[in-house]
Amino acid sequence: MKALILVGGLGTRLRPLTLSVPKPLVEFANKPMILHQIEALKAIGVTEVVLAINYQPELMLNLKEFEKKLEIKITFSQETEPLGTAGPLALARDKLIDDSGEPFFVLNSDVISEYPLKQMVDFHKAHGGEASIMVTKVDEPSKYGVVVMEETTGKVERFVEKPKTFVGNKINAGIYLLNPSVIDRIELRPTSIEKEVFPKIAADNKLYAMVLPGFWMDIGQPRDYIAGLRLYLDSLRKKSSTKLATGPHIVGNVLVDETAKIGEGCLIGPDVAIGPGCIVESGVRLSRCSVMSGVCIKQHALHI
Ligand code: GDD
Ligand code: MG
Repeated sequence: MKALILVGGLGTRLRPLTLSVPKPLVEFANKPMILHQIEALKAIGVTEVVLAINYQPELMLNLKEFEKKLEIKITFSQETEPLGTAGPLALARDKLIDDSGEPFFVLNSDVISEYPLKQMVDFHKAHGGEASIMVTKVDEPSKYGVVVMEETTGKVERFVEKPKTFVGNKINAGIYLLNPSVIDRIELRPTSIEKEVFPKIAADNKLYAMVLPGFWMDIGQPRDYIAGLRLYLDSLRKKSSTKLATGPHIVGNVLVDETAKIGEGCLIGPDVAIGPGCIVESGVRLSRCSVMSGVCIKQHALHI
């Protein structure tokens, strides 16, 4: 199977981090956010990931170095103008479609979850429609794509991107599994999958939604990023708690890269990630934050 990750947005809501690197390369839980997705795709047998790049393409090309480490083919589809969230699929048509006729994944690059992709493949096979999307419930649906669906079958009745009035509280989680025929619906021009493609597939009764099990967060805004880190660390506690730091200087869920150094008398946590090569000097107190690779925190600094 193949996958395309939409990595071309400007990431303006995550500035200043995205002034120096594109959003998918911003670290989340000590590695570029996009690696969480590529690893999850690899784990269920995806053999090639196409990165739909646009903004800061030269930095994105560095991801090629992960090919060997992750044992997955990484290719690029580069836009000469921003093609939105659907146009990139038309541009990458020849890379995504092969003789197998298999469906392919499409992912927004800034969503974090437990990526239940295997369940999604089973769901897609079972309903026999043209496209599957993951949905999740949120309290504040207006900043997302809202989905109205038949509870029992998952058939989507309406898809409304960023509604101005209340439509429902199940939202598009930015993880799709699409049949190759979906690309026939997309013109090669700047166009939105949420506004121009999904509403039409829904009108044809061929769009199905699966409620995502486990946590989910769009980490493309600072407040949501920190909330997402807490959810991610909670899930890590349940699934592989040995990856979390332990000791008298640790409070709650804390992830510390093995190359980071923490000085005497620190108190770290809860909900902190300390990235590769970081130096935390003595007597530092940190909670609810992400310390990105190479950062040095001077002694007795406080962030709570
Ligand atoms: N290649 C390419 N070209 N990618 C793009 C472009 C473009 O012109 N514009 C945006 N993207 C990528 C972004 O990098 C991101 O991965 C994805 O498309 C979605 O863009 P966002 O800017 O993050 O959209 P959003 O968060 O406002 O809304 C989207 O995500 C929500 C879930 O997080 C929509 O898909 C909503 O329906 C959804 O609920
Ligand atoms: Mg987003």
